[in-house]
Amino acid sequence: MQVDTAFEPLVTERLRLRRSMPEDADAISAYRGDPEVQRFQGWDRTDPPAIRDEIERMLRRSPGEPGGWVQFSVEERVSGTLVGDVGLSAAEGEPGVMKVGYTIAPAAQGRGYGTEAVRALVEYAFDRLGADVVRMYADADNIASIRVAEKVGMRLVERLVHRSKLGSWEGVRYEVTNGGPSP
Ligand SMILES: CC(C)(COP(=O)(O)OP(=O)(O)OC[C@H]1O[C@@H](n2cnc3c(N)ncnc32)[C@H](O)[C@@H]1OP(=O)(O)O)[C@@H](O)C(=O)NCCC(=O)NCCS
Repeated sequence: MQVDTAFEPLVTERLRLRRSMPEDADAISAYRGDPEVQRFQGWDRTDPPAIRDEIERMLRRSPGEPGGWVQFSVEERVSGTLVGDVGLSAAEGEPGVMKVGYTIAPAAQGRGYGTEAVRALVEYAFDRLGADVVRMYADADNIASIRVAEKVGMRLVERLVHRSKLGSWEGVRYEVTNGGPSP
């Protein structure tokens, strides 16, 4: 995997993906606090100070660097409105594997933005970072997330069941391989 220390925003037909900045925290907190958005996510805290701290931590990392997530804010090119965030994280102990995560604010969902942003991120991971595989994990009931994965060319590779005292969780692992079937 290569490390991109000079990241340039990714521009798509309607969107711009740029590094998340501390001043994005209020906008990100507004949608992450929505129960529907939180439903399938494992965030401990969604308040602005916690999000700001996390963004500051992530800004110390470059895309492709191991050790955690790097986050990008997704903006509409025309309006400049922040409509979501996506992230990349190199899988620990698996060279060449890059994980993606994604969230679009409810007000902006259903317009293809999730697919457009994740497609750009997958291409970036392959073309600029040299990833061999891009992967996402989701709750097995998270239909919208799975649909986005499928639309960018990912295929189901594993079903996961995690049982604990708190109950059981069923998840899925989707992946796309560089040079694999196109979306
Ligand atoms: C997953 C998410 C990013 C999708 O964003 P989006 O911008 O609405 O996605 P798109 O508009 O690109 O839609 C992609 C596909 O999902 C489908 N879809 C979207 N929401 C859906 C829903 N609630 N139920 C069923 N299908 C849904 C769309 O119809 C579309 O498929 P189609 O083109 O075959 O019709 C968004 O729902 C979200 O942020 N969810 C909460 C956070 C989350 O769970 N993130 C993923 C964690 S792994």
